[in-house]
Amino acid sequence: MPTHSTIMVTGGAGFIGSHTCVELLGHGYEVIVVDDYSNSSPQVVSRIQRVAGRYLGAVYEVDLRDRRTLSSVFDRHHVDAVVHFAGKKAVGESVLIPIEYYDVNIGGTTALLAAMQEHGVRQLVFSSSTSLHGDTDRGPLTEQDPTRPSNPYAASKWTCEQMLADVCRLRPEYTVLSLRYVNPVGAHPSGLLGEAPPREPYILAPAVAEVAVGSREPLGASGADGSAAAASGVRDVIHVMDVAEAHRIALEHLDDSTGLRVFNLGVGSGASVFELLMAFGEVSGKTTPYEVGNPQPGDVAERVAAPGAMTLEWGRRATRDFAAMCRDAWRLHRIDLTGYAG
Ligand SMILES: NC(=O)c1ccc[n+]([C@@H]2O[C@H](COP(=O)([O-])OP(=O)(O)OC[C@H]3O[C@@H](n4cnc5c(N)ncnc54)[C@H](O)[C@@H]3O)[C@@H](O)[C@H]2O)c1
Repeated sequence: MPTHSTIMVTGGAGFIGSHTCVELLGHGYEVIVVDDYSNSSPQVVSRIQRVAGRYLGAVYEVDLRDRRTLSSVFDRHHVDAVVHFAGKKAVGESVLIPIEYYDVNIGGTTALLAAMQEHGVRQLVFSSSTSLHGDTDRGPLTEQDPTRPSNPYAASKWTCEQMLADVCRLRPEYTVLSLRYVNPVGAHPSGLLGEAPPREPYILAPAVAEVAVGSREPLGASGADGSAAAASGVRDVIHVMDVAEAHRIALEHLDDSTGLRVFNLGVGSGASVFELLMAFGEVSGKTTPYEVGNPQPGDVAERVAAPGAMTLEWGRRATRDFAAMCRDAWRLHRIDLTGYAG
């Protein structure tokens, strides 16, 4: 994919989407953002442009499921490829509102594929998740390990991958790269972009930051034996800038790929909730209080992704360490924990 190509980024105002927009703008791509701001803020758009030092090609406030409006966006631009982030992403929330998760994640992806088909767009990078492996004590997980989604969020990602596999099998002109990751954290080093959802976060990293600045009650670190130090909830945490770079690199490999290909995106080792709380406390100089509690419904104990396939094929590995993730996340939250309201 030549770097002057036009890329549509769905969910481009969200956490990973906004960092990916900066990465793409920085590499010369023309970027069109589609987002309904259901879990982000329009303020992110100016932050993206400020950090990148370039304008986005266009920004549309559209719910992907609004097929007519989505199609009109494709009418207005020659889109070369799509990076698809838009969707709902919290395992715990998906257990509470499963129908919404299926509707947004599967319905949104179906609507996007229909609009792409209608407009001759055949290349897609899909934002997937290792959660589709379900509750397994295997680890680190490879792309070939069995998939047994154990909550509606994971099931929605699994269904999307099945759909994409069928489309690619039946329509060989399509190329899809699906990147499965576990837990992106951190923020852009400028402190201007990061994860600051407008609603109460169901996601760990912003919740930890809120505890540190005192705007949230202590978090539960769930340990099977009742101790926080042995806390479960071990996750492969990866810096969001590493995730953004990997999506840009995936775009560069669309032209030499065929069909659906799946790649893990991770560091290959895990950190527990307790370790995240402690590391955040260290960089922020504040104590992050916690309570030992039970796991969230639908959550699994440990999830680490083997990143070898991507390294082998694309020479790509995550470069930022855990300290950088916490330092960058803290910089954002120290400056602005208001969900970009300021
Ligand atoms: N953050 C994680 O821990 C994680 C892990 C694995 C996979 N993923 C996947 O990565 C993607 C991006 O995650 P994120 O952390 O940036 O989430 P996010 O919530 O910050 O970003 C998603 C964006 O999509 C938008 N959106 C939601 N529904 C939409 C719709 N129907 N139409 C248009 N826009 C819509 C939201 O407003 C938001 O800006 C998601 O698909 C998620 O499932 C995230």
